[in-house]
Amino acid sequence: MCGIIGITSKNNIKFDLIKCLKNLEYRGYDSVGIYLNKLIKTKGRVSDLEKLIDDSINSSCGLGHSRWATHGIVNNVNAHPFISYNQKFVLVHNGIITNYLEIKENLLIKGYKFYSDTDSEVVCNLLDCYYLKYHDAFKSLKLTLNNLEGSYALGIINLDEPNKIYFAKKDSPLVIGKSSNFNFIVSDINSSYFLTNEFIILNDKEYGYLDSDNIHIYLKDKEILKNSITLNLDNKEITKDGFEHFMLKEIHEEPKVLKNILDKYTLNNKICLDPLFIKELINADEINILGCGTSYHAALIGKEIIEKITMKKVNVYLASEFSNVNLINYNSPFIFLSQSGETIDLKIAYNNIKNKDKIYTFTNVLTSSLAQLANKAFDLCSGIEIAVASTKAYISEVTLLIMIAYKMINKDEIFINEIYNCINSINKTLNTKESIYELATKIKDSTSLFFLGRGMDHLINLENSLKLKEVSYIHSEAFYGGELKHGSIALISKGINVIGLITNEKYLTLLSNIKEVESRHANVNLISTSNLNINSQYVIECNNELFTPIIVSPFFQLLSYYCAKLNNRDIDKPRNLAKSCTVE
Ligand code: F6R
Repeated sequence: MCGIIGITSKNNIKFDLIKCLKNLEYRGYDSVGIYLNKLIKTKGRVSDLEKLIDDSINSSCGLGHSRWATHGIVNNVNAHPFISYNQKFVLVHNGIITNYLEIKENLLIKGYKFYSDTDSEVVCNLLDCYYLKYHDAFKSLKLTLNNLEGSYALGIINLDEPNKIYFAKKDSPLVIGKSSNFNFIVSDINSSYFLTNEFIILNDKEYGYLDSDNIHIYLKDKEILKNSITLNLDNKEITKDGFEHFMLKEIHEEPKVLKNILDKYTLNNKICLDPLFIKELINADEINILGCGTSYHAALIGKEIIEKITMKKVNVYLASEFSNVNLINYNSPFIFLSQSGETIDLKIAYNNIKNKDKIYTFTNVLTSSLAQLANKAFDLCSGIEIAVASTKAYISEVTLLIMIAYKMINKDEIFINEIYNCINSINKTLNTKESIYELATKIKDSTSLFFLGRGMDHLINLENSLKLKEVSYIHSEAFYGGELKHGSIALISKGINVIGLITNEKYLTLLSNIKEVESRHANVNLISTSNLNINSQYVIECNNELFTPIIVSPFFQLLSYYCAKLNNRDIDKPRNLAKSCTVE
């Protein structure tokens, strides 16, 4: 979950390294550090680090790291980079070394001292130990890697060869960027495409070294040749484009995202999806979908809609709990939903599925590990998502799942027309932000807030609740209306805020549940897709019940955004979170 950058160039790299680190910050932002002829690191953000950097600090080769703490509390000492005990290596690491205590004990016996609580410092000192013996940094790297268990993306400088960067990757993201005057390693293409659009995607267990002219990649002791890919990225995407926050900008991009999906996947009123994939879904007994967090919520909506219109059974699994599931139909296709394509829980689930031929990834990052691993990867077409809280990618995930459902029953035109309706509806919501802001002012001081819904509305509320808590820090829960009386109603007391959602006549029974909480003096606001003539109601028009998740979710995303704003939260980088979860 940390961000790594290492650049080696013919020119000074200070500004590029720091710019890249700023772009990488969304991967982890509790502490940050650089090595550029000197080691500078601090608890806090890149903006805090910048205050410590003066003109004396510059170099043509350096490393940078933004941390999301795993081993060791958040402080300056546990921040990366690390310098080895005998001052031979500087190292940045993303991942978790599971056997670090064992290695540490051996190094302690050899007289090594450790200043941090991290597993990463142990790797740095193991390199140092081999180097003192063999005086060969590359050999020391290979020997070190042989000892490591767990996951790593490593960037290393041997201080006797200050223009070279060594690297290694296993189960944590790392790519190489190429240019005429410089080369670099980075954990995230998006953060560095201002430097180049030519990249080499590294696979697990690859390692090697680079300087400003050459790149050497190895696998199992043999040098390998890898082709680079050239990406066509839109430079505008990484700016806020006039919006106060990336989250707000990304919510506003949702109509464009739906249009992107139509542009990419439809032609002449037909959905153009790999026919073999669709055939496989049609022929399967069941379909399995895996995801985490917001992507898991999108999967739950997908299950509801696919089952409803195709009558095909869908199993949805939380990827982080996949190994604890007893009955899994491994003969059925698996759809991995992941905005980042790097989520470790999905990678672990991938490793546990023997037949990889039926694994498909829906992701926003086609160069990501899960896209590379899958039998086939499908683009979510959201464009780069920077805000840690996922909004537009959720809309894409839900839309793609609805699209495969309609394709499976050959009702392409209905899907396409409805997506145009969704675009109009979302635009309407975006144009009535004042009423959403007004609702935010009513609920922003809640200590706890409850979302009530029935059927698919509850599934939509699961995501609404997650969004609210992650950006505004208001504790919230989503309950099925009918379940309240079985226990949770004990939480309702005077002044508690409740938000009801009714998007379907079938769910009108929620009105009695709303009466139940109102009788206990809760403050209820109702969001519905038709006018039910009650107080504190917000109407979002929608004619096709199957598309309500796409139409109503932007309302709730904006509500969470405004609650966070009114509560002065760090909206794009909520506390304790990171954009892509690459450790277990
Ligand atoms: C919440 C959020 C997370 C992610 C989850 C999975 O706003 O973004 O819950 O959805 O960490 O990430 P991906 O989709 O990248 O696998």
